[in-house]
Amino acid sequence: MAEPLKAHKDKKESMTMHRYTDRVVLITGSGSGIGRNLAERFAAEGATVAVADINGDAARETAKAITDLGHRVQAFTVDVADTVSVHGLVEEVESALGGIDVLINNAASTLDLPFLDLSEREWDLDVGVTLKGPFLCSQAVLPGMLRREGGVILNIGSVNGFSYFGNDLYSAAKAGLLSLTRALAVRYGPRGVRVNLIAPGTIRTPFWDGRLAKDPAVHQRLARWYPLGRIGEPDDVADAALFLASSAASWITGTALTVDGGLLAGNAVMTADILGEEY
Ligand SMILES: NC(=O)c1ccc[n+]([C@@H]2O[C@H](COP(=O)([O-])OP(=O)(O)OC[C@H]3O[C@@H](n4cnc5c(N)ncnc54)[C@H](O)[C@@H]3O)[C@@H](O)[C@H]2O)c1
Repeated sequence: MAEPLKAHKDKKESMTMHRYTDRVVLITGSGSGIGRNLAERFAAEGATVAVADINGDAARETAKAITDLGHRVQAFTVDVADTVSVHGLVEEVESALGGIDVLINNAASTLDLPFLDLSEREWDLDVGVTLKGPFLCSQAVLPGMLRREGGVILNIGSVNGFSYFGNDLYSAAKAGLLSLTRALAVRYGPRGVRVNLIAPGTIRTPFWDGRLAKDPAVHQRLARWYPLGRIGEPDDVADAALFLASSAASWITGTALTVDGGLLAGNAVMTADILGEEY
């Protein structure tokens, strides 16, 4: 298959803008992967970032790396699936950093188990973190956003919310997250709160560590399914998030933006088979 026109590395003409000066951005699951990169990128654009993760050490480590670059950030420990923990987090963030302007619901859980082996416990874990978490976090930040007559909630969904790729409960939870996105967008749009969802395809993060340990070539094989010829990087998601949470997206709410190299647009491998072409 042909090389993509532009390799990811070449893509960043990156002139850092400062779209988030004086904005407080709370990001769940930001001790690792996409969330950590979001924390770094929002902080680099002037935001005061609340790095929240169930892994307190990872949150502190992320916050330290961002502080060392001279940006404003604070680490918090939270379990997004626990209502007391979430309400405690939002109170702490608001008293330490001020009212939350942007909430990014990023934390999620995926268990790799065959459907018939899944128990109620696994449902509670995957759906609890991936869908109940955004429900609890949104419910906790919304009163402040409504008092201030504005705010942005950005949900990190997945292509798994649109199509099935082997994770039964995670898919169900991500599809529910799309529905929650639309509900909150319609309900609170009239009061100045925008709610959108980003649906990434495969992104190179520690989320994949377990599978890579068993199958080091998995990312190479997966790249074949992406019309743009590669899997994604955390920066691909951050670029979309920095736009959707900014005033440049002020008339966009209730939408789902796929950041998936064209995966959901159609089936590149099958298309080549139909056309009898090499892929
Ligand atoms: N990596 C991918 O291929 C991919 C693809 C599509 C969507 N996503 C989505 O992107 C988001 C981030 O994924 P990632 O790849 O960066 O994963 P990751 O495993 O690198 O990071 C997830 C973070 O969430 C934290 N977390 C887990 N449970 C939590 C809880 N109960 N409360 C608070 N924090 C918790 C973890 O400690 C970890 O730091 C998730 O919503 C995931 O579904 C990832």
